[in-house]
Amino acid sequence: MRHRLTLGIAALLAPLLASSVTAQTTTPDYTIPAQPRRPQSPETPQHAARIGWWRQAKFGMFIHWGIYSVPAGVYKGEDVKGIGEWIMNHAKIPVKDYEKYAADFNPTKFDADAWAQLAQDAGMKYLVITAKHHDGFAMFKSEASPYNIVDATPFHRDPMKELAAACAKRGIRFGFYYSQAQDWHEPNGIGNTWDFGPDDKKDFEQYFQDKCIPQVTEILSNYGPIALVWFDTPRNVMTPERAGKLEKLVHTLQPNCLVSGRIGQGSKSDYDSEGDNHIPPTVRTGDWETPATLNDTWGYKAHDHNWKKPEDLVFKLTDIVSKGGNYLLNVGPTAEGEIPPESQQILHEVGIWTKANGEAIYGAGVTPFGAEFGKPSGKNDSRGRPIYDAPKDWRCTTKPGKLYFSVFNWPTDGKFLTPPITDKVKGAYLLADPDHKPLAIENTDKGLSISVPEKGLTPYATVIVVETE
Ligand code: GLC
Repeated sequence: MRHRLTLGIAALLAPLLASSVTAQTTTPDYTIPAQPRRPQSPETPQHAARIGWWRQAKFGMFIHWGIYSVPAGVYKGEDVKGIGEWIMNHAKIPVKDYEKYAADFNPTKFDADAWAQLAQDAGMKYLVITAKHHDGFAMFKSEASPYNIVDATPFHRDPMKELAAACAKRGIRFGFYYSQAQDWHEPNGIGNTWDFGPDDKKDFEQYFQDKCIPQVTEILSNYGPIALVWFDTPRNVMTPERAGKLEKLVHTLQPNCLVSGRIGQGSKSDYDSEGDNHIPPTVRTGDWETPATLNDTWGYKAHDHNWKKPEDLVFKLTDIVSKGGNYLLNVGPTAEGEIPPESQQILHEVGIWTKANGEAIYGAGVTPFGAEFGKPSGKNDSRGRPIYDAPKDWRCTTKPGKLYFSVFNWPTDGKFLTPPITDKVKGAYLLADPDHKPLAIENTDKGLSISVPEKGLTPYATVIVVETE
């Protein structure tokens, strides 16, 4: 009771206190250098114009959907290890056998509006779907190859037309993934060595001219405005010359379309893609994105139930935004055309959080601090990247005059302590509090101490806004 009363008085006094608080100019006990970045397009006016929406968007839906959802991770009765869309490669399935999955692919439950609505409900602002993955099967109507969903499956519909329309209706930007180098269906595509022999003996140029370029032309010509093309696994065949050609093709057909990071050597991409599921340990400059799975696969696998928890996803979202990136989170629909119910449930829960706290995410900038990311643990991951001992108590994102502390570890003593804030502090409140009732604040030599209610307001993390001058 006494505690409540104190808090109440403190809250009343808060506006008075706030105006007199100038936080200290001391820096945290150590600072972490921003991560270097790989080269991207220079900030030309064209680049700046086309990337603007993407810098605001922060959160997108990735969809890996293809005929690999028919075997769904199982070949000849055996579970095939690894990511689902790689089953043809991992099990070395001959083209003539893999092709048969097309005849069994009839996703009658596919509902473009339901998919786009799910993305919207989760708080995702763009959607990127596999037009053609490494298996070579086009999920759109293609004149360049009959190996496509309209001509080679009993479905006979072009789901990409429907999805493009469903996204447009909701103001969700629509983009395509396209595997430009690997194509396990074609003798001269990269990757299928079990049917077609070593890659270095192939006439890749034939594949590039006869399938890749015509299909990239199709996806940019037949589906309205395309937000971005997400190229992948360039291997060594995407020389600067070919990568340049492809980039030019995209930007000629649709000047506002972004080219993602994995296009090829000497790439002129619009933004960089981190490794799959990799989040850099600290702030990284430049435009970048972490593509990530909801379980352990991209393409649907019936036996993969290793779902990430909504809290973990919300943490990763704020973590990524606080480091300057975008989060492209994947779902893998089934061969019937449904996004797995578990994925739907998880995304709905994430959406409850983004709906209440979106201001801390969309268009938000990086943390001015850094100490919250912890320190290098001395260990590296399998690719030699440093692993940090990263506390998960809170993350900070910013907008002019505002610091957003997404607090995952809600204080038990009624006080949230920020690192020292260099700007003059005007006040603090909870983002999800509709009244934005001022919280009592006190400047200490360790930072700003904010009196907070016993419990947070939203699941997983409550956002405390600190307003500065
Ligand atoms: C990879 C894989 C692939 C997946 C992608 C998503 O590089 O080859 O199957 O589409 O990452 O980021």
